[in-house]
Amino acid sequence: MLTHEIYVFDAYGTLFDVHSAVARHAALVGPEARRVSEIWRSKQLEYSWVRSALGHYRDFWSLTEEALDFALASVPGVTSSAKASLLEAYAELDCYEEVPAVLQALKQAGAKLAILSNGSPQMLASAVKSAGIGSLLDDVFSVHELKIFKTAPQTYALVTQAYGVDATAVSFQSSNRWDIAGATAFGFTCRWINRSGQPEEYADLAPVETLSSLSGLVAASPR
Ligand code: LAC
Repeated sequence: MLTHEIYVFDAYGTLFDVHSAVARHAALVGPEARRVSEIWRSKQLEYSWVRSALGHYRDFWSLTEEALDFALASVPGVTSSAKASLLEAYAELDCYEEVPAVLQALKQAGAKLAILSNGSPQMLASAVKSAGIGSLLDDVFSVHELKIFKTAPQTYALVTQAYGVDATAVSFQSSNRWDIAGATAFGFTCRWINRSGQPEEYADLAPVETLSSLSGLVAASPR
């Protein structure tokens, strides 16, 4: 089953369902809840890329809060009173349902398992704990110590440096296509977890495999 000795996972959108926070409080947010959630996520990511390019780092939790302010302000009819509940829910997101079993199977087969995320150490610790997957992970790598976000190459190098391995030892999983582009450029073998049927992009930085959920990882035959 294993194709690599190390399996590294993006956190938000890949293990943790970023839209579950708004879904949990949909009644409070109102009929435009889905739109609020989409704007929240896309602004959060935009802020990370702009700040990385500028060299003006702020931690990912701050960006998450700023992005939520923008989302709540930009959708008419939504009040900012939902903010505290939404942020609380974001700190304790649901993981996708297949996650615990897939991590368990990979671990049992002998793989080393880690997260590599833009999330700050504190928010990652909280999400890992509420998802109950802490005992399955060997490490949780946060870009925070570097003060720059993915897709900067040095963020992916956190993994290879920590394990003293070449990029070829790592299978990297992300549902974010831009992250797959960054990790492919770095030299990881990448599996794109295309949960929502997004069209292909970054054609010159393509994953080796596209899966609709993480379950496909444990069904894959060795290559
Ligand atoms: C992560 C986000 C950006 O790095 O998906 O976990």
